Amino acid sequence: MDKTDNLPWVEKYRPSSLDEVYGQSDIVETVRKFVHEGRLPHLLFYGPPGTGKTSTIIALAKEIYGPNYKNMVLELNASDDRGIDVVRNQIKSFASTMQIFSKGFKLIILDEADAMTAVAQNSLRRIIEKYTKNTRFCILANYAHKLNPALLSRCTRFRFHPISEQAIQERVQNVIMKESLQISPTAEESLLRLSGGDMRRALNVLQACKAALGDDTLEIDQDMIYECIGAPHPQDIELALDSILKDDWTKSFLTLDQVKRSKGLALIDLISGFVEVLSNYDLKPKTRIAILSGLSEIEYGISKGGNDKIHTSAIIGVIKGALENEK
Ligand SMILES: Nc1ncnc2c1ncn2[C@@H]1O[C@H](COP(=O)(O)OP(=O)(O)OP(=O)(O)O)[C@@H](O)[C@H]1O
Ligand SMILES: [Mg+2]
Repeated sequence: MDKTDNLPWVEKYRPSSLDEVYGQSDIVETVRKFVHEGRLPHLLFYGPPGTGKTSTIIALAKEIYGPNYKNMVLELNASDDRGIDVVRNQIKSFASTMQIFSKGFKLIILDEADAMTAVAQNSLRRIIEKYTKNTRFCILANYAHKLNPALLSRCTRFRFHPISEQAIQERVQNVIMKESLQISPTAEESLLRLSGGDMRRALNVLQACKAALGDDTLEIDQDMIYECIGAPHPQDIELALDSILKDDWTKSFLTLDQVKRSKGLALIDLISGFVEVLSNYDLKPKTRIAILSGLSEIEYGISKGGNDKIHTSAIIGVIKGALENEK
């Protein structure tokens, strides 16, 4: 047994070089060019989860320093609750140790920097300036707007966009081959769509599906994907929606309740399912607006708590009401 066999797939298949970072070729090319021209600036990578920020900077470090890159790189997780003083001291001792065999600068990776307090970010900008001579910072964050503008202006920014379905497909097919998995075409299509540009999610779902494969089922099918991702199956959504459109109020309520219970769905999953299915319906703009704005209010309400029965009734009310008005 290979020692990588019990690793989660997101780690097992973490890109080991920049060439294995999928779907972010513009960024990869640019940072590579910086390195080859020997003028790497401070970097800021931001964007949604699972799009390759951490992977790219680690791969870049490997490309700069080779296999022993760990000596030249300090990885700090900014959201660790240790206070800026600890961070400052770590950076200070790391940056000031003499590099006898140095290749210029050392790299400091600050992960999840948007979770730092404003005060901490403020002191960070001084730290960056102080150590620019022999270090480069790479700041990783999900949201750039949560970062201090003064910090932003010290870095060259790269936005990691959600990974395209095509790029996820390439990676997923690669993994499927290496793991000798079988997956039906519809299941693959759903996996790519439901991953929403998040490679981590795609790999996690695939691994969960593999674990769910029994001895007699060899192929991953669409139902398994929906189950592992916890998203409602379009058929269930259609069923619930159909009932709202055709049945009286009590019956629709019972159908919704039934779908929720039997499939283990939360009301909030049903709402996103409705929105997706309704986007394929031919509705008057006014009706669509009424439904969407109604559902969004309910969604907000659910996120704040409240009574499930009331919310369920409200959903039926919104959809029925909007369609009544259309007539
Ligand atoms: N562009 C990509 N190419 C190949 N694999 C990727 C890519 N993006 C993510 N992955 C896979 O997903 C896992 C998580 O990626 P990574 O840690 O780089 O995401 P991240 O952008 O840093 O996310 P977060 O914002 O949550 O920190 C990686 O181990 C890798 O397996
Ligand atoms: Mg990360």
